[in-house]
Amino acid sequence: MALPELLNKAKTFGQEKLFNFYEELTDEQKKILLTDVQNIDFNLMQDLFKKLTNTKEETAETEIAPIPCTDATSMCEEERKRLYDKGLQVLGEGKMAALTMAGGQGTRLGHTGPKGTYDIGLPSHKSLFEIQCCGLKKVSAQAGCKVQWYIMTSHINHKDTVEFFEKNNYFDYGKENITFFPQTMIPAMDREGNILLENKYTVLKSPNGNGGLFASLKNAGLFEKMRDKGISRIFICGIDNCLVKMADPMFLGFLEDSGHKAVAKSFIKRTADEKAGVFCRRGGKPTVIEYTEIPLELAELKDDAGVWVYGDTNVLNYIFDIDVAESLAEVGMSYHIAVKKLNCADFATGETVVIPNGYKFELFLFDAFSQLDSLGVFRIERKEEFAPVKNPTGVDSAESAREMYMAIHKEEN
Ligand code: UTP
Repeated sequence: MALPELLNKAKTFGQEKLFNFYEELTDEQKKILLTDVQNIDFNLMQDLFKKLTNTKEETAETEIAPIPCTDATSMCEEERKRLYDKGLQVLGEGKMAALTMAGGQGTRLGHTGPKGTYDIGLPSHKSLFEIQCCGLKKVSAQAGCKVQWYIMTSHINHKDTVEFFEKNNYFDYGKENITFFPQTMIPAMDREGNILLENKYTVLKSPNGNGGLFASLKNAGLFEKMRDKGISRIFICGIDNCLVKMADPMFLGFLEDSGHKAVAKSFIKRTADEKAGVFCRRGGKPTVIEYTEIPLELAELKDDAGVWVYGDTNVLNYIFDIDVAESLAEVGMSYHIAVKKLNCADFATGETVVIPNGYKFELFLFDAFSQLDSLGVFRIERKEEFAPVKNPTGVDSAESAREMYMAIHKEEN
C-alpha cells in the first residue's frame, strides 16, 4: 500500500499522528514507517483499546473444578525409573524437540541484552542460555541423540541472541542443532489510545507474549520442518528458570504413558494466597486460574491429606504433541493488558520521552489450554526444578537462583 491509502486508513482509526514526521524522513525511513503501518491490525488495536476503556472485565461465570494431577514427588523409585526409561527411548529416537521461549523483554531484571545472555554469578559465569545448553548436552548424551533446540526470540533481541551463540560457538552443541525464530510483535499504546512511535519513523512494538508461541512457530514454517526431522513432541520452557530439566525424560515418559496430548508441570503453592496461577478445570476444560480470580474459599480448600485442592501452580513447562500445538496456532486468543513504563517518541518533537503508564498487550500460553480436551498435570518438587530469575535482587532473583542452582548442581557450577 502507498502513502495515501495508509494515511487514510490511519485517519479512519484516529491514528494519523503516526505520520507526524513523514515529510522530514529520508526515503529509507519512509519505507520503514510505511511497512510498519501496513503491518498494524488497526481493528485489533481499536478493539483492545475499547476493552481497556470498558473497565468491567468480562469474566465468564463458568464452573470451576479441580483437575486430576499425577504426583511425581510421591512416586516410588521404580515407577520414576520406568517413566524415565520410557521417555529416554523416545528421545533416543529423535522424536522430541526442546523449545525455549526467550522472546520476553526481561524488564524487571533490567539487563541490557537478551535475558538468556544473563550471568547469574556462578563461578563458571555460565549464562542462562549456556545453563540450558548444558542440560541438553547431558540428556542428549544419555539418549544417544542430539535433541533439536528451538529458541523463540523477538525482533528486539533476535540479532543479539544469534550473535551471542555465534560468539560462544553454539556452546559446542552444533549450529545445525539450534534454530532461532522471532515471535510476532504488537504495537503499544498510550492512555488516549494512540499507537506510539519509537522514533520518527518506527512504530513502537513489543513481543506479543508467550501465548504467541504456536502462531510464531507456524509463521516460521517450523511445524513442517520439525516433522521432516521426525519430531512429534515439543518440550517447552521459559529462559529464566535455571533449574529447568531440559527435555526431561521422565516428563516425556509421563506424556507417553498417560495418553494425554499435552502435559504441564506443576508444584504445590506455599500459601493459600500465593501470587501464582493454578491449574483447574473451568466449564469442563483445563485452564489456569489467576490468583486474582480464584474465590478465597477455593484458594483455601484442602483435601483429606491436607494438600491444597487448587494448589498446582503453573511452572511454564510443558510437552505438546506437535499436531495439537499446530492446531493451537489457529486459535483466536484474547490479549491481556499490561500497564508499563514506555520509552517512545513525543508526537510533537520526535524526542524520546518516558510514558509512565503505557499499554502493552500480551497473549498467555495457558489461555490456549481451554481448547484441549485434557491436560496431564505432573507435580514436581519446587526446590529441585524451579529457580526463576525475574529480579536483580530479592525474591526470584539471580541471587536466589544461584544459591539453588549451586545446591543442586554441586559439581558443575
Ligand atoms: P515473563 O512473563 O517473566 O516476562 O516471561 P519477561 O519478559 O521474561 O520479564 P518481564 O516481565 O519483562 O520482567 C516468562 C517467559 O516467557 C518468555 C520470556 O522470555 C520468559 O522465558 N516470553 C515472555 C516470551 O518468549 N515472549 C514474550 O512476549 C513474553
